[in-house]
Amino acid sequence: MPAPTEFLTYIDAKADIFIKRLADAVAIPSISGDAKHRNDVFAMADWLNAQLRQLGVDTQLVDLGRHKMDGEDLPLPPAILGRIGSDSSKKTVLIYGHFDVQPANKSDGWDTDPFTLVVDEKTGRLIGRGSSDDKGPILGWLNVLQYHHESKLPLPVNLVFCFEGMEESGSEGLDDLVRRESKKGGCFEGVDCVCISDNYWLNTRTPALTYGLRGLSYYKVTISGPARDLHSGVFGRTVHEPMTDLISLLSTLVSPQGDILIKGVDDMVPRADEEEKAIYAGLDYSIADVEESAGASIALSADKVSVLMGRMREPSLSIHGIEGAFSGAGAKTVIPAKVSGKFSIRLVPPQTPEAIDPLVIDHLEKAFAKLGSKNKLSVENLHGGKPWVADHRHWNFEAAKKATKAVYKQDPDLTREGGSIPVTLTFAESLGVNVLLLPMGRGDDGAHSTNEKLDRSNFIEGSKLLGTYLYELADIAKN
Ligand code: BES
Ligand code: MN
Ligand code: MN
Repeated sequence: MPAPTEFLTYIDAKADIFIKRLADAVAIPSISGDAKHRNDVFAMADWLNAQLRQLGVDTQLVDLGRHKMDGEDLPLPPAILGRIGSDSSKKTVLIYGHFDVQPANKSDGWDTDPFTLVVDEKTGRLIGRGSSDDKGPILGWLNVLQYHHESKLPLPVNLVFCFEGMEESGSEGLDDLVRRESKKGGCFEGVDCVCISDNYWLNTRTPALTYGLRGLSYYKVTISGPARDLHSGVFGRTVHEPMTDLISLLSTLVSPQGDILIKGVDDMVPRADEEEKAIYAGLDYSIADVEESAGASIALSADKVSVLMGRMREPSLSIHGIEGAFSGAGAKTVIPAKVSGKFSIRLVPPQTPEAIDPLVIDHLEKAFAKLGSKNKLSVENLHGGKPWVADHRHWNFEAAKKATKAVYKQDPDLTREGGSIPVTLTFAESLGVNVLLLPMGRGDDGAHSTNEKLDRSNFIEGSKLLGTYLYELADIAKN
């Protein structure tokens, strides 16, 4: 049963109204990682909850308790659980998405205000924080719901929703909720498959279906010594300097070519055989694509397969920042008393945070001992998540392939992603069902970056794709 033509024309006809709704969502700066904006994440939960209710979804806001962030005790934003349809002859699909976003300030280099959705008529871009990650995709589901609500046409499957507001900050509290609701009598009982729309095509032309995500282990390494910040004219070459120690330590983690220098980490991953390499060679991707989305000619290699493997099937280590360091304008001659380096490692099977943590801590302690410094070292693990790989021959993927073909007249690329959505594996394990990642945006959307955008056509065709996927699912599942 293909999606009704009326559904497709409805989505086209309502495009401007849908874009207006996206603008309303983007206007709420629901930044989970910034304590000052915690009330906005709550406001975003209320906004989304009201939208879902208006469209006939039976919802509840679930309190996830409190947590500590940067030493502050804060209430966690609620998760939204919802259901529409409970026809036992239909399949039940669990939809996940997150309504929190990354921080954004115009001064980071945005051309426009990040929380005012700008519709660039020339390029068709919808520019604003969260447009692609992940408010656009969530609103895609609202668009699908709205057609069925207004036309009073029942959905072809039962839908269960799980939307959270802490994804960008490690999905605090969500794993427990998912495990609880997956049990007998829970909201997720009877779920047949999961669909997550929280990633991107590989390039700007070919739709993708995604069957893998990397995991993550995030570290904070702190060097402290002096009782207070010191004058470098008075104390330079007189005391052990925390910043000097930290830079030495950070430089032992990863080579400029991307090799992870912590013993045992790269070695944990089996090498790709020729068959696996052929998969990467077959993807519609070029070095030009990576350099276009990075905005510079800086790819680690000219070989497409090796660059793709670096993102999809190898671990990576990135150094993110130094807390406590002098970082303002001017030329302050300070010796900072306490500095913390932040870095994370993206993990691939069979790596887990539990297996990696001891290797990292041991490496840092040994490297620090070699410095012969009298300063103090401490290492903290901030958050983590396991990698996930799914079976892409499953009917869940078959339905998404058919839907892609129907909407985009093109076969999708089958990809693994370099990013992480830690709850994905929790869904797969606690429900024991197949999980599909069905992206809406393109590879150059700039999630987490300045001028994040979603192309208008991806929002509209992507909404059609989500709906069409449900129809294809109903069809396949019956056979
Ligand atoms: N949507 C991303 C996940 C993602 C990133 C998928 C890149 C595909 C490609 C998600 O919102 C995200 O940013 N996740 C964080 C998770 C972390 C905070 C645990 C990430 O990957 O850094
Ligand atoms: Mn996301
Ligand atoms: Mn994100």
